[in-house]
Amino acid sequence: MTDAPAAAADPAASLTVRDNRTGSEYEVPIVDGTIRAADLGKIRTSDEEPGLAVYDPGFVNTASCRSAVTFIDGDKGILEYRGYPIEQLAEKSNFLEVAYLLIHGELPTKEQYDAWVHEITYHTFVHENVKSFMHGFRYDAHPMGMLMASVGALSTFYPDARNIDDPANRHMQIVRMIAKMPTLGAWSFRHAQGKPFVYPDNELSYTENFLSMLFKMSEQKFDADPRLAKALDVLLILHADHEQNCSTNAVRSVGSSQVDPYSAVAAGVAALYGPLHGGANEAVLRMLRRIGSKENIPAFIEGVKAGNEKLMGFGHRVYKNFDPRATIIKKACDDVFEVTGVNPLLEIAQELEKIALEDEYFIKRKLYPNVDFYSGLIYEALQFPPEMFTVLFAIGRTPGWLAQWNELIQDKEQKIARPKQIYTGDRQLTFVPAEERWA
Ligand code: CMC
Repeated sequence: MTDAPAAAADPAASLTVRDNRTGSEYEVPIVDGTIRAADLGKIRTSDEEPGLAVYDPGFVNTASCRSAVTFIDGDKGILEYRGYPIEQLAEKSNFLEVAYLLIHGELPTKEQYDAWVHEITYHTFVHENVKSFMHGFRYDAHPMGMLMASVGALSTFYPDARNIDDPANRHMQIVRMIAKMPTLGAWSFRHAQGKPFVYPDNELSYTENFLSMLFKMSEQKFDADPRLAKALDVLLILHADHEQNCSTNAVRSVGSSQVDPYSAVAAGVAALYGPLHGGANEAVLRMLRRIGSKENIPAFIEGVKAGNEKLMGFGHRVYKNFDPRATIIKKACDDVFEVTGVNPLLEIAQELEKIALEDEYFIKRKLYPNVDFYSGLIYEALQFPPEMFTVLFAIGRTPGWLAQWNELIQDKEQKIARPKQIYTGDRQLTFVPAEERWA
C-alpha cells in the first residue's frame, strides 16, 4: 500500500487490517512505530466514499512530523535536546549555547560560539518605532498580549523575512528574534509599571542584560546577582524546547503556510499564553495565594477531585512519571531562596505536592508536578509579577520554536497543515431569504 522503503525491507513490520464492512484485507506498513494516515485513506467501501480517517482531537496519538530537535520519553522522565540530557545542559551549559545547539543541531566550536554570542548581542536593539507602538498599549495591558503583538509586528520591520527559502535569510531572522525577545519582554514589563524603557547593554551577558532591561533605574550599570542570573539562565534552558507541544505545533502549523517566522512565532506566543500551557505558572501562583495556608489544602484538594477546578502545575500530556524539568527547578529554588529568602508560598506548594502525590485520584491518573509548579515561586522571588511568568517562558522557548520552524521549512515531506473533520452539521438545506423568514 505504500512506497515506504523500510516497510519493503521488513515485511513483518506491518499491520493487517480487515475491513468488516467489505471483507477486504489490507497490509499497512509500520515505519518508526507509526502507520501513515494516508495509507488508511486507501481503505474505503467504494470509490465514491471517502477513505478511512483517524479521529484524534488534541493529536493525542498522531505524529505530525519527523524531528531531530528534542527527544522525550514521558514514562522514564527523559528530556534531551539534540541528544544531550537536560540535566547536563542545565548544569554545565548556558542558554545561548543551548540555543545554538537547538538551532544548528550540534554544539559550537569556540569560534562558532563567540560569533553566535556576538551576533545575538548586537541584534538586541529594536527599531525606535517599536518603542512608540508599545507605548500605545493600555496602562494595564497583559505583557503576554504585548509580546505577542510586538513579535508579530517585527514582520513589518523585516519584510525580507518572507524569503524563507534562503538559509542565510532564515539565520538572520533567527538571530534577530532570539536577540530581541528579551527587549520586547522587558519593555512589556516596564510599560505595565509606568517606568521608562531601558536599552540593551551589549557589555552584559544575555541573562544579565535582560535583568538590566527589567530592573535598572538610575544607576549607571545594573549589577545582577550572579546567582540569580544563573538561576534565570537555567530556567530559560529548561524551557528552550519540548518537541511538539501546543505552541510549537502552532508555530509549525502557521509556518506551514510559508508565512514569515515572526508571524509564526507570534502564533506560538499566543498558544503559550493559555492557562493549560505556559500560562499555568501564573495560574499556580494565583492558586497558591488563594489557598493561603496549609490548613486549607485538604478542602482545596477535595474541590479538585470533585472536578471544581484543576490543580495547576500538575499533570502533563507526555510525562506520566515525573517531569525532569520540575526536578531541576526544585534545586534551582534552593539557590534562589538562598539569595532572596524563602518564598512563603513554598511551604504551601511543598505540602500540596506531598498530599497530592499520596492521593489515589492523582496516583491513578499519573499526575505529577510539572515544570510550572515551582517555576512561579522562583520568578516571584526574582521580583517578577505573575503576569510576567509566561513571558519568561516565551523567551526561553524562542530558540526551540525557531529550531522547529527551521526544520519544518527544510522538510520535503511537510505540507500546509490542514486536518480533516467529521462533519456533524446539517446538509442541503434550502435557503429562505430574510424578508420571507421574518414575514
Ligand atoms: N488537576 C486535576 N485533575 C487533572 C489535572 C490537574 N492538573 N490534569 C489532568 N487531570 C485529570 C483530568 O481531569 C482527567 O481526569 P478524568 O480521567 O477523570 O477525566 C485525567 O486527569 C487526564 O487528564 P487530561 O486532561 O485528559 O490530560 P491531558 O493530557 O489532555 O492534559 C494537561 C494535560 C497538562 C493540559 C493537564 O494535566 C492540565 O490541565 N494540567 C494543569 C495545567 C498545567 O499545569 N499545565 C502546564 C503543563 S506543563 C508546561 C507546558 O508544557 O505547557
